[in-house]
Amino acid sequence: MGETAELNQAPVQAAEDLAEAVTVGVEAYVSEDYLRAERDRLWRKVWLQVGRVEEIPEVGNFLTYEVLDDSVIIVRAAADRLCAFHNVCSHRGRRLVDTPAGDKRACGSKRSFVCGYHAWTYNLEGRCTHAPMAEDWKGALTEERTRLGEVKVDTWGGWIWINLDPRSEPLRSYLEPAASMLDPFQLQNMRCKWRKWLHVDCNWKVAMEAFYETYHVPATHPEFMQFGIYTGWARAQDKHSHIGYDAPKGLEETSAKLRLGSGKDPRVATAEMQDYIMKHVNAVTTQTLADAARRLVDDLPEGTPADQVLKHWLDSARRDDASRGVIWPTVEPSHVASSGTAWQIFPNFQIGHAVNNALCYSARPHGYDPNKCIFEVAVYELFPSGQEPKTEWEYTPLGDARWLSVLPQDFSNMAAVQQGMRSGGFRGTLPNPYREQSVSNLHRNLARYVGAGQPRKLV
Ligand code: FES
Ligand SMILES: [Fe+2]
Repeated sequence: MGETAELNQAPVQAAEDLAEAVTVGVEAYVSEDYLRAERDRLWRKVWLQVGRVEEIPEVGNFLTYEVLDDSVIIVRAAADRLCAFHNVCSHRGRRLVDTPAGDKRACGSKRSFVCGYHAWTYNLEGRCTHAPMAEDWKGALTEERTRLGEVKVDTWGGWIWINLDPRSEPLRSYLEPAASMLDPFQLQNMRCKWRKWLHVDCNWKVAMEAFYETYHVPATHPEFMQFGIYTGWARAQDKHSHIGYDAPKGLEETSAKLRLGSGKDPRVATAEMQDYIMKHVNAVTTQTLADAARRLVDDLPEGTPADQVLKHWLDSARRDDASRGVIWPTVEPSHVASSGTAWQIFPNFQIGHAVNNALCYSARPHGYDPNKCIFEVAVYELFPSGQEPKTEWEYTPLGDARWLSVLPQDFSNMAAVQQGMRSGGFRGTLPNPYREQSVSNLHRNLARYVGAGQPRKLV
C-alpha cells in the first residue's frame, strides 16, 4: 500500500487562505498508517486535556489518561502541586496502575504506587522508594534510572493538561488566543453537572467535527428551526478555531449562547426554546435561565422589543442565581459576541462556553482502527459552594435514552460519515469556507504535525 509513502509527500497546492474553497482528502479519517503516524507526530506532541483539577483535590488523589499506546498517571503530589508520569514500572515495564475493566481510566487515592509484579514502590513524586533486594544490583539502581518517566503537566480553565513531549511549548502559549478569549468566562469556577462517554464507529475527527459548526443545524436538528435562525460563522485562530452565530435580525450583536427564541412574541418563544433545550439536551442552559424565561410573559407586557426581553431575561436570571450564591462573571457584551459559542482546542477538545455553563466534547482514537473512537461529553455549571453534584464518567452507549434526543441526532451522522468516506466514490470533503473553516483549519494544523492531509485549493 502506498499510504505510508503518501504521508511523507509534500502537499500539492496547499491552501493558504481557508476563506477560499478547499477540499480535504479522506486519508486523515480512514488510513491506518495515518493513525499510526498520529501517535508519534500528534498525540506525543500536543497538550491534551485529561481531567478536572477538582477531581484530585487531596494529596495522593490520582487519575490516569490513555491514548493509543501511552498511559499517564496524574497525581496531586502536594497541596499545590500536580505531577504526571508515564504509567509504566521502571523495573520490567509492567503498567503500574491498571484500568478497571470497562472503564476508560483509573481514578483513586494512594500514598505510594506499588507495582503488582515485584513490588517496586514509587512515591507521589515518581521516585522509586523501594526495590526488593536492590543490593543484587550492586549499586547500579540509581535514583535517575529507577524513577518514573516524567510527563509535563499544567492547568488552565480548571482542566488538567499533559504533554508527552518534554520540549513542547508552555501550555499557556499553546492555548492562545483561546485562553485569553475564554479567561473572562472563569471556566475554572464551574463544576460538572453530568459527563458521559461512549465508543463510536468513526474516526475521532469525524466525531469532533460533528460539533465544529452550526451549518448542520437545519438538517440535523430541524426542531431547533422553530426557535430561530441557527446560522453562524467559523474562524481559524492559529492552531485553534471558534464558531458563533450571526447577529440576529433587530439586534446589534449576537448574545452568543444565551439567545432569545425568535417568533412573533420573543417572551413566549424564549420560554419554549429554553424548555425544549432543558428537556432534550440538558446542557447549554441552566434551570435558572429556563425558570426566568418562563416568567417573561408575566414580567413584561406584550410587544416588549426583543432587545429588552433579552436584557430582562438575563438580568433576572443573574439576580436569581446571585441570591443563591451563584455569581456569574461579568463579561463585556462585545467580548461575549466576539468569543462566539464554542472554541475548538487543537486537536481534540471543544469548549462551548457561556457565563454560567459550558458544554465540552473530546475524542481520541480507540486502538489502531481509524474507524473507531472514544467520545466524551461533559456539561459544566456554576453551583452554590458546597452544593456541587458528585459525578462520575458514565459509559452510555448509542441508543441509551439517557442521551435524550438532540445529541443522538449528531451521533447519527458519525458512523454514516465514516462509511461514506470509505467509499471509493468519495472525492474528498468540501467544507463551507465561511461556516466550516474550523474543519479545514483542523486539517491544516494536523498536516503541520502529521505531515499529510493538507487542505487543497478547490480550483
Ligand atoms: S515490573 Fe514492576 S516491579 Fe517488576
Ligand atoms: Fe448538532
